[in-house]
Amino acid sequence: MNRLRRLRVNETMRQLVRETRVDRSDLVYPMFVTEGENVKNPIGAMPGICQYSVDRIHEEVERVVNAGISGVLLFGIPAHKDEAASEAYNDEGVTQRAIRRIKEQAPGLLVIADVCLCEYTSHGHCGVVCGGEILNDETLPLLAKMAVSMARAGADVVAPSDMMDGRVAAIREALDAEGFKNTMIMAYSAKFASGFYGPFREAAHSAPCFGDRKTYQMDPANRREAVRECLTDIEEGADVIMVKPALAYLDIVREVTDRTDYPVAAYNVSGEYAMVKAAAANGWIDERKVVMEILCGIRRAGAKIIITYHALDAAAWLGEEERGNGGV
Ligand code: PBG
Repeated sequence: MNRLRRLRVNETMRQLVRETRVDRSDLVYPMFVTEGENVKNPIGAMPGICQYSVDRIHEEVERVVNAGISGVLLFGIPAHKDEAASEAYNDEGVTQRAIRRIKEQAPGLLVIADVCLCEYTSHGHCGVVCGGEILNDETLPLLAKMAVSMARAGADVVAPSDMMDGRVAAIREALDAEGFKNTMIMAYSAKFASGFYGPFREAAHSAPCFGDRKTYQMDPANRREAVRECLTDIEEGADVIMVKPALAYLDIVREVTDRTDYPVAAYNVSGEYAMVKAAAANGWIDERKVVMEILCGIRRAGAKIIITYHALDAAAWLGEEERGNGGV
């Protein structure tokens, strides 16, 4: 008789045949940095996640380094917002100062700078706005300037999340022209117009003040178009492609993994985190089991890199498993 249960008789056997593993080095932890002094501001819908001012960011960075996570993805919240998103490409802006501080403290930690205008514009859209329209080509030079400013501050990776057409090419060209040939581009290639970003917009103060993002972010219904977005970004010079959100889009993660030879990242976004935290706080699910199952599912779908607000907890649990106290 074919007995598949032979493969499951005990934990040693299960480990022997386990097909997918999550490693701490797969994880990237998003962080929010804000103006002001001595700020540590908890975000209501994201329990455990805070905004930090530059002078306190070292507290969280120390935890990240000790956890053995590969990198942080930085979002800046400037005090001043305007139509031209000036703070986005100000070398003395809050994000740029945070990058320099983190690089001094932890030179080996990968610093990934999100490149998008929405936290920096007065209207909260990801591009330049004129007459209620979000302009594509006029936005590209600003994104390119922002990416160069982040690279100059010390960012190892820039991650354009705006979904304008042609932005990867514009950013690559500007980085190369300024001598940042090794600054990597991790493109939010298949980024969907999603309800799962709700808590993030509170955390990053980036909700659009009119309309929505449906003219630039993707329609959740489209899988084939997601492949086109990824192939286009690769052609333009992306080093890593990303699918976002992760959980309702695991078929997209699998599809682009199969259709390209590039590393794929998946962003386990704020709303996905909030749902797990809320259910766990009510005692309705076992947080550790559910989080590890989610991360394993994202890896199994094909993503190598997982951007997740669970990164610190997950790294601690993975460390315990490595030492042999977990899982059985
Ligand atoms: C900026 C950006 C967003 C997220 C990452 N970069 C918000 C948005 O597009 O509205 C969402 C991240 C999350 O929900 O965790 N464009």
